[in-house]
Amino acid sequence: MASLIEIRNMCKIYNPGENEVRALDHVSLSIGENEFVAIIGHSGSGKSTLMNMLGCLDVPTSGIYLLHGSDVSLMTDDELSDIRNQEIGFIFQGFNLISNLTAFENVELPLIYRGVSKRERSNLAKEALRKVGLENRMDHKPSEMSGGQQQRVAIARAIAQAPPVILADEPTGNLDSHSTKEIMNILKTLHSEGRTVIIITHDNDIAANAERIVHIEDGKITSDSSNDGNMSRDDIAREIRGNSTMYGNESDDDDTVTQESKDYPDSQTIMEANEINLSTEEKKDYPESEVVAENIDLHLNGEN
Ligand SMILES: Nc1ncnc2c1ncn2[C@@H]1O[C@H](COP(=O)(O)OP(=O)(O)O)[C@@H](O)[C@H]1O
Ligand SMILES: [Mg+2]
Repeated sequence: MASLIEIRNMCKIYNPGENEVRALDHVSLSIGENEFVAIIGHSGSGKSTLMNMLGCLDVPTSGIYLLHGSDVSLMTDDELSDIRNQEIGFIFQGFNLISNLTAFENVELPLIYRGVSKRERSNLAKEALRKVGLENRMDHKPSEMSGGQQQRVAIARAIAQAPPVILADEPTGNLDSHSTKEIMNILKTLHSEGRTVIIITHDNDIAANAERIVHIEDGKITSDSSNDGNMSRDDIAREIRGNSTMYGNESDDDDTVTQESKDYPDSQTIMEANEINLSTEEKKDYPESEVVAENIDLHLNGEN
């Protein structure tokens, strides 16, 4: 299988020095085209850090990342943002939709930044929304939709330009079981259409949907197994236990995840993913003001 993603000996150290956190500790991982991989681990094990590396949202402290054979560490910021735009569709736990834009406008926004023409944008956004079953909700704002519908809008945004890789960090972490099933079915469909799907989760039930399960603990990969589709969450827990100390059903993990998203807000990541920079001041007051302002600007400048 062609190696789409090749990570060798990757380390990520936050706050180097006395209070340093070794979030990734010599991680090596290859992912081929059209794989469906779940990366699982306790909260704080380094999953989101790995996702940020995979998605070229952050750079490792050391180690190598080859994407399609190209060394990511040698790329300029512009090249990295091109890679993010063209190769990767991001999905986050918190949906990260812009509250005063409709579903259609949320899906369209990154396409505006990518310089796609108005007509083409409209086609791509509608097609993506149709794909996630929201053709009748295009003019709804996030507040007028359920969590599951909001996440479907976020998926439509991620897939509008058909990126070959989908990177999803705890995509069902805020959803009820019905919506979780819906979202997982959409991800399965995207995989069956030929995309590489990488999902990050602390939930063994979610991981059981993937063909391959990579377990990370304290920044290290402690197991990497294929899943024939018949694995239950207990099987997965057993598989992992064979390779590491303790892993089971974590009853308190959801709280921890909420706490974490407070500390490291995903909204900033998606902003970065969309190449939108807000000043700290604005972010505090109106998280999306600049984005909306720029969007309006584009409209006013006849782009629309
Ligand atoms: N921006 C950051 N600055 C400092 N420490 C961080 C940062 N992001 C994550 N960490 C720390 O790195 C470790 C791994 O975090 P993370 O990748 O978010 O784990 P997970 O997604 O598995 O919960 C944790 O100890 C976390 O506190
Ligand atoms: Mg995380």
